[in-house]
Amino acid sequence: MEERHTTDRFLKKYGIHRESIDIEEICRHFLEEMERGLEGRESSLKMIPTYITPRTDIPVEEPVLVIDAGGTNFRVAVLHFDRDGKPVTKDFKLYAMPGTGGAINAKRFFDTIAGYLEPFLGRSRKIGFCFSYPTEILPNRDGRLVRFCKEVQVEGVEGTLVGQGLLNTLKARGYSGEMKIVLLNDTVATLLGGMAVYPTRNFDSYIGFILGTGTNTCYMENIGDLGKLKGLAGEQGTMLVNMEAGAFGKAPRGEIDLEFDAGTINPGEYVFEKMISGGYQGGLFLALVRKAASEGLLGEKFRTRVERITRLESREMDEFLLHPYSDTNTLARCCAAGQEGDTDRQVLYFLMDEMAERAAKLVAANLAAVMRKTGKGKNPCKPVCITAEGSTFYKSRLFRGKLDFYIKTYLNEQLGFYCELVKGENTTLVGTAIAGLMD
Ligand code: BGC
Repeated sequence: MEERHTTDRFLKKYGIHRESIDIEEICRHFLEEMERGLEGRESSLKMIPTYITPRTDIPVEEPVLVIDAGGTNFRVAVLHFDRDGKPVTKDFKLYAMPGTGGAINAKRFFDTIAGYLEPFLGRSRKIGFCFSYPTEILPNRDGRLVRFCKEVQVEGVEGTLVGQGLLNTLKARGYSGEMKIVLLNDTVATLLGGMAVYPTRNFDSYIGFILGTGTNTCYMENIGDLGKLKGLAGEQGTMLVNMEAGAFGKAPRGEIDLEFDAGTINPGEYVFEKMISGGYQGGLFLALVRKAASEGLLGEKFRTRVERITRLESREMDEFLLHPYSDTNTLARCCAAGQEGDTDRQVLYFLMDEMAERAAKLVAANLAAVMRKTGKGKNPCKPVCITAEGSTFYKSRLFRGKLDFYIKTYLNEQLGFYCELVKGENTTLVGTAIAGLMD
């Protein structure tokens, strides 16, 4: 228990302890930022309208080309829905996301993806293009890239229309057929894919949530509340909104968060994502552990060994939790032998546990803000369906149980909102296909 007290004291001193997270206050800030973003006022949340209305009448037996450009992989497939509404993937190809293996220019980027798409052309004139980067969507459902993230380095695409860029490239390469591209964020695809998973269940509303390399949330908003879309004022119905929640700027950050952020390629931006998502967890934890070692929480042997580590992946943290005595895991190898090593390991465990606790509180605040904004999910027999995706959500060993705890104690018991977290198969591809089939 002594290790737990020491890590608690240390984390409180650096403002990274769970107690520094007032879930109700953060939820209120989230709500305020959401409202400002929807009205087009200054806000850390972009609240991007997608021009997509959720639908359940999915066209059957009609093929659609699906592109999924994620942080690591680039996937292309042909999909259709059979007469029972079940998605059928006909062909599927997996590539590395262009720009992940060193910087490339826009021409190379579009040429590469056009090349990946070419074998599929002619199978459908409709393309659903899932693009997991902050992108402003236009009424014709093409999108203007705000910026690349997740270490993807492509010069010259920011500020340009991604779908149009691809169409122009296909044309320049000799393809003359008419194509229609619907560009959408991965959280939007997740939400739509999730809707297709349980067509007969009664849900009050839907949320798409991702906690992977990055984090983000999409939900169904009343069109009338989208104050920034002046042309749609007074219209009825709902539209999916991509919050770009990873950029939320009102969560309290500690000294180590600030130090870590200063060393990233985009300091001051996407600070919420940097506190919780898989792409940053390893780096943040390394900074935390170094500080703890310099303050004597970890042994001298650990301190000298950890100084030599230049990079830590979030995956290695989970490996440590599974095999703390392993002789191949980066963190376990830094621990001393014997009693001193036992202390090192326990300190590492409690530090990770606290980071997961903080992440769970922040995610619960994020989801609660959406439910409060829409007022949906008050009836436990008709909960909000939250389709969750992302390696960090499913693989982080300590996170999920804690999230369920805050959903129960805060969302259910304190606020009286109910949700169900669901996992679908291939929700990104399925949701992208649904969007691509839209007229
Ligand atoms: C991007 C979002 C994306 C999220 C999850 C973030 O880094 O800005 O657009 O939805 O990652 O992939």
